[in-house]
Amino acid sequence: AVKGAPVDTQTGKLVEERHRIEVDKDMSPAKMARVVGEIAEHFKWRGPIGVGFPGVIQGTTIRTSANLHSDFIDADGAKLFGQATGCPVAMINDAAAAGVAEMELGAGRGFMGKTLLLTLGTGVGSCLAYRGVVVPLELGHFPWKGGNDAEKHVAASVREQKELSWEEWGRRLHEFVAVLEALIWPELIIVGGGVSAKHAKFFHFIESRAKLVPAEFLNQAGIAGAAMWAAKN
Ligand code: BGC
Repeated sequence: AVKGAPVDTQTGKLVEERHRIEVDKDMSPAKMARVVGEIAEHFKWRGPIGVGFPGVIQGTTIRTSANLHSDFIDADGAKLFGQATGCPVAMINDAAAAGVAEMELGAGRGFMGKTLLLTLGTGVGSCLAYRGVVVPLELGHFPWKGGNDAEKHVAASVREQKELSWEEWGRRLHEFVAVLEALIWPELIIVGGGVSAKHAKFFHFIESRAKLVPAEFLNQAGIAGAAMWAAKN
């Protein structure tokens, strides 16, 4: 789904109830841009817009699109969504957007040590934060046991599709986190995505060296952070 809301970028709070439009995973960029336009129209929005996109973003250009239409690759997101909304658009990776909100106003507020943020949803988003700087990562594409992308085994969507128990899924997450800890050594791990609201069901399967906490903004971190990013850029 595409979701949006006006955000108070000082507090990260959504000023109006978020508007959500279901979309098809194969939707073309032009159609998706129209959906973004509908969301802006719903709020009669005329200001800056931050778009958190599930792919690699360089400047305003989309470089990868693992879970959406491949025509997004190499598209200029600011142009695409800017033309559809008539508003200035800043682009940021979806997990990095969540990272911006969580580090400034959420679970990582005031923490200067190395922090890893993972978002568990359709795919697995990731970013690292250190001394206030958020760096987007693509850890969901780490080869799982030498095979295909880890996100095909540990995303929240996989638990639903494969009807895994919380324990089966939690154990997979534990293995994934163990690999990431060996490589990154974070001091704090923040878990976001819709499923973070249900952290009590699976956190106890993950034995991490780092402190493991749910995102404070839960699955609204992406919306809040994208808006904060737009305000800064
Ligand atoms: C994408 C990432 C994104 C993540 C979560 C991955 O498939 O490559 O850029 O952050 O999904 O949406």
